[in-house]
Amino acid sequence: MNTRLTEKIIIVTGAASGIGRGTALRLLSEGAQVAALDLREEDLRLLHESAPDNERSRLFTQPVDIADEQSVQEAVAVVIARFGRLDAIVNAAGILYGDHTHEMTLDRWNRLLQVNLTGTFLMVRESLPHLLEKKGGVIINFASTSAFFAHPYMAAYAATKGAIASFTHSVALEYAKQGLRAVNIVPGGITSGITNTTPQNLPADADWSLLEHLGAPLNDGRMGTPAEVAGVIAMLISEDGAFITGTEIRIDGGAHT
Ligand SMILES: NC(=O)c1ccc[n+]([C@@H]2O[C@H](COP(=O)([O-])OP(=O)(O)OC[C@H]3O[C@@H](n4cnc5c(N)ncnc54)[C@H](O)[C@@H]3O)[C@@H](O)[C@H]2O)c1
Repeated sequence: MNTRLTEKIIIVTGAASGIGRGTALRLLSEGAQVAALDLREEDLRLLHESAPDNERSRLFTQPVDIADEQSVQEAVAVVIARFGRLDAIVNAAGILYGDHTHEMTLDRWNRLLQVNLTGTFLMVRESLPHLLEKKGGVIINFASTSAFFAHPYMAAYAATKGAIASFTHSVALEYAKQGLRAVNIVPGGITSGITNTTPQNLPADADWSLLEHLGAPLNDGRMGTPAEVAGVIAMLISEDGAFITGTEIRIDGGAHT
């Protein structure tokens, strides 16, 4: 087993499903102490059950609603009370739904912003004082290929992800002298709760020919796995990623070359 994350205390949001879940398990396997946060308590319990017997004691689960300021403050406080410090945070929690832009209600627009963008901000803000206690803190945020390439019906989602990418760049420079690194992951076409339900989450009359360019020709058109993203995140948090900050890493099987 690679033990490069031994002694690291790492929060992973969105850990009940998809990429966040895969990341929590990968970080555990490399020796980290992982605080797995999500809205879905039952799925957090299942994650805990599915962790290997010899790693489970290093996995701590805690419910959170990242869109709620008080919930985020309480969750981060609980993690710090338990572990005493924090080395890294992986902000994988997020939601996706699509609309014709001219039909999108203000409620749906606001909800996407509240969860994806404000939720990422709240987690980062509450974690920063702890990440800055010593040099070497790491923030991993989640943008999306939709932030950099055209994905129809996802204008609002794409806008939240583009904003997260910009936010991460600012944070990376603002705290660089204190030894913090901040990196955006840019996934595309990874099997997860979000991608499994994307067809239902687009307008019923969506023109699918507008989505045809989003294949992965370099990878036979297959979907990626959460594990293929998780391995990159483990590298970024470890010393192997020490010279990587203020940038994006796109993981999409070459779908947007
Ligand atoms: N899968 C892909 O191809 C892909 C592509 C681009 C971006 N992303 C991004 O990757 C990240 C991980 O998503 P995924 O694809 O694994 O989807 P997923 O649905 O499997 O996982 C998202 C998790 O976030 C949690 N969550 C949602 N709202 C929350 C809230 N308010 N508070 C706490 N937890 C909340 C969900 O319960 C779920 O467990 C997301 O930010 C997503 O936008 C994924």
